[in-house]
Amino acid sequence: MRISVFGCGYLGAVHAACMAKLGHEVVGIDVVEHQVASLSRGEAPFYEPGLPELLREALDTGRLTFTSSAAAAADAEVHFVCVGTPQKKGENGADLTYVHAAIADLAPHLKPGDVVVGKSTVPVGTAELLLETIRATQPEATLIWNPEFLREGHAVKDTLHPDRFVYGTTPDEAGASAAARLDEVYAQALGEGTPKIETDLATAQLVKVAANSFLATKISFINAMAELCEKTGADVTSLADAIGLDDRIGRKFLNAGLGFGGGCLPKDIRAFMARAGELGADQALTFLREVDAINMRRRVRMVDLAREVCGGSIVGRQIAVLGAAFKPESDDVRDSPALSVSAQMQLQGAQVRVTDPRAIENARKKWPDLTFVETVEEAVADAEVVLLLTEWREYLDLEPQVIAKLVEVPRIVDGRNCLQPEQWRAAGWTYRALGRQ
Ligand code: UDX
Repeated sequence: MRISVFGCGYLGAVHAACMAKLGHEVVGIDVVEHQVASLSRGEAPFYEPGLPELLREALDTGRLTFTSSAAAAADAEVHFVCVGTPQKKGENGADLTYVHAAIADLAPHLKPGDVVVGKSTVPVGTAELLLETIRATQPEATLIWNPEFLREGHAVKDTLHPDRFVYGTTPDEAGASAAARLDEVYAQALGEGTPKIETDLATAQLVKVAANSFLATKISFINAMAELCEKTGADVTSLADAIGLDDRIGRKFLNAGLGFGGGCLPKDIRAFMARAGELGADQALTFLREVDAINMRRRVRMVDLAREVCGGSIVGRQIAVLGAAFKPESDDVRDSPALSVSAQMQLQGAQVRVTDPRAIENARKKWPDLTFVETVEEAVADAEVVLLLTEWREYLDLEPQVIAKLVEVPRIVDGRNCLQPEQWRAAGWTYRALGRQ
């Protein structure tokens, strides 16, 4: 099948490479020339395990190309829309400029029978508007909504072996044939028994934001419990283990700590609330305001804990921060809790040194006033407190005895509840965490 992919950022680049891996002829289209150039060389403009290998393999077969010309879509029959929908500046709603621009660029090249597949995360109701634009130019093309659930750090696996497919179609023959076409695209995963939910356009758009809202709620729920654990001397990790064994609840996404960040969960819950307001249903989602507030409160609590551990003031204190990315296995620093805490502590007069195995370059661009160092050793040298804020594998493997020799005072705050407290205490460290003793 011949496929075009509009938008070669995170979602689009991974999707294009994975579609080529499945044997399709794929052209990735993006307006950012340097992104097209680096992808054409087989270089991903961001860190994602497995992607560079996949890109190079697909480029070598000749099945994958990248261009900035929308006209290249004329040769394809299925067109994926994978552009970003960031949060609007100073507002909660989603900025749909790129989605509308992609459809405007694509529409003149559509042929009768072509299928446009929406993958971007959009406010419900957007797909219907896009379909109108498409049909105004090419009445015999159609649109299907097929949300994407990939996680950064696991994007290749999540795309090739998703845990479900969702198709939102129009209730007509065009919708049915678009679904059949998408079945051909995903034949391999469908053959492996991946479940598929076929529904209408509105539901398919809602599924994505509902899923992300649920995940965010789960994290904020356990972080709210962490607040209570802190007041009572209870242990949020044991609490999560205990409630998580109820399979109606499940243990996943119950890791208490510094809370969620990144390019999806925070902006998606805010855009969802804004959309509910426009629809006159704002009351339905007021709980998400609380989810957001609990999440942001964790960052404040982390700064307070650093202050507490330092004996009441962080002014002039040497603080080492391990982690800058919003989560491990990613170089993404969008709405990173670790950087937000680091910046706040610096603002309050602390001497902060941040390190990260992958995200320093991106972090420097976004937070030029913070001090970044390449290694853990440099970060912790003479530190009066160490904060672990992103749970990279290499930080879990740190040897407390070895690190203790480098710091000024052996005090650590585990912002992700990922270390073994006994091990650190046995090595002479003062160990503190969010939500446990
Ligand atoms: C998320 C969704 O998981 C994915 O399905 C969707 O397509 C995009 O948004 P992603 O942003 O890559 O994916 O990260 P995710 O793994 O969901 O983590 C989000 C944030 O929540 C991270 O900052 C992570 O540290 C935090 N988190 C996650 C917790 O604080 N506790 C948890 O238990 C799980």
